[in-house]
Amino acid sequence: MSVHLSAQEGQIAPTVLLPGDPLRAQHIAQTFLENPVQHNGVRGMLGFTGSYKGKAVSVQGTGMGMPSAGIYIQELIEGYGCTTLVRVGTAGSYQAEVHLRDLVIGQAACTDSNLNFTRFGGLSYAPIADFGLMAAAYARARAHGYAVHVGNIMSSDIFYQDDPTSFQMWARYGVLAVEMEAAALYTLAAKFGVRALCLLTISDHLVTHEVTSAEERQTTFNGMVEVALEAALGTE
Ligand code: HPA
Repeated sequence: MSVHLSAQEGQIAPTVLLPGDPLRAQHIAQTFLENPVQHNGVRGMLGFTGSYKGKAVSVQGTGMGMPSAGIYIQELIEGYGCTTLVRVGTAGSYQAEVHLRDLVIGQAACTDSNLNFTRFGGLSYAPIADFGLMAAAYARARAHGYAVHVGNIMSSDIFYQDDPTSFQMWARYGVLAVEMEAAALYTLAAKFGVRALCLLTISDHLVTHEVTSAEERQTTFNGMVEVALEAALGTE
C-alpha cells in the first residue's frame, strides 16, 4: 500500500500504462488484458493488473494534470518498483500538419508549470522520453500504418488559456501538441532511473478548431494502446 494506491506488494506489474481517465484504465483492462484484476479504487482512480500475450502488465488512471499524475507515478515507482511507465493520452494539435486522430510520440516535453523551476531552483531541465521505448513505439506505429509524429510536446497546467493564440509561440519552435502530464512523467522517470514514454492521439486542433467525436477518440485510442503494449512489453 502507498498513500494513494491500495494494491498489495506484488500486485502491480513492472510495466504500467497510464491513461488520465480512470474509466479509460477500466476500458483498457477489459479490452486488452487477460484476467484483469482491479487493485485500486482509492479516489475512484482505477488500477488493474492482467496480462497481454502472456506478459504481466498493469494500467493505472492518473487524473488530469501534473500534480495528480505525479503522485501516482512516484508511488508506482517508489512503492511498487515499476520500471516502465507509458502514458496513453489525448492532445490538442499545435501544427496544421498534425491532424486529428494522428499519433504523437512525445520525444521531450516543455512545460508552463513551475514544477521543474521549483525542483531545479529556477534553472531549466529538459524532460525527455526513454529512447528505446520511443524507437520501439515508432516502429510499431509505422508497422500498423498509423500516421505518427515524433517531437516536442507541451505539458500545460492550463486547459482553458486566457489567450487562445498563446500556443503559437510554442508552435513556431516546433512543438507538436499540448497535453497536461508528460513533463512530470519524464522528470520523475529520470529521477528514479526508470523508463517512460508519452503516446498521444490528437483529439482537438488549436489551429483548425476541429474536434473528434467520442467514437473516433475510442477507435484511435485503442490503436495507440496496442502500440504502447507492443513497445513496452517488447523491450522489457
Ligand atoms: N489542451 C490540453 N490538454 C489536452 C488538450 C488541449 O487542447 N486536448 C487534449 N488534452
